[in-house]
Amino acid sequence: MAELAIRLRPVVEDDLTMFRRFATEPGLIGLDWAGFRDVQAPARRFAEDGYLGPEDGRLMVEVEQAGVAAGFVSWGAGTYGGVGRYWEIGIALLPEWRGRGIGWRAQAMLCDYLFAHTPVQRIQAGTHAENIAEQRSLTKAGFQLEGVIRACEFRAGQWRDGQLYSRLRDDPAPST
Ligand SMILES: CC(C)(COP(=O)(O)OP(=O)(O)OC[C@H]1O[C@@H](n2cnc3c(N)ncnc32)[C@H](O)[C@@H]1OP(=O)(O)O)[C@@H](O)C(=O)NCCC(=O)NCCS
Repeated sequence: MAELAIRLRPVVEDDLTMFRRFATEPGLIGLDWAGFRDVQAPARRFAEDGYLGPEDGRLMVEVEQAGVAAGFVSWGAGTYGGVGRYWEIGIALLPEWRGRGIGWRAQAMLCDYLFAHTPVQRIQAGTHAENIAEQRSLTKAGFQLEGVIRACEFRAGQWRDGQLYSRLRDDPAPST
């Protein structure tokens, strides 16, 4: 099957429907469902800065041939040791677009974007042992597994271990 061409683009108002779905449809996001979220929050955030803030943001993953958004990528700032600012990224694709080679490329493209436009040395991403698709996606996107973060996340009724991955500015970038 031919590879689907994708691009990252800013959020537009029509995309808020998808964000509301992820906030209100149990399980649509997959393993990371964390309960219902404020359905008005996407409109407020979009009005504030179009999801492009200094501390965090989102871009849509658009499938070029279809002209539709398959999902979105996100990033948020963190700091190690007071000065070591880094990004932690995330991704959610709609179920019908999963398993088609989009997720790993979208995350690699987001790294290229963040390394090009911000001076961070490190981009990290967390997932969990059950999420094989995300583990493989991160590895294909040039990330390396750093280790297990014990009991870092409360999800589905219990504290669970996480897996921490990172890609550094000088790590080899995969061809997308
Ligand atoms: C996780 C996610 C981003 C992966 O993106 P994707 O487009 O589905 O994955 P890709 O098609 O790019 O595949 C990347 C790799 O994962 C593998 N993979 C994809 N789906 C898989 C599945 N269900 N089980 C096992 N491996 C899978 C692919 O085979 C490929 O690896 P390979 O080339 O070594 O064979 C996507 O499935 C998704 O949005 N899931 C729901 C939200 C989520 O879990 N986000 C991450 C939170 S930590």
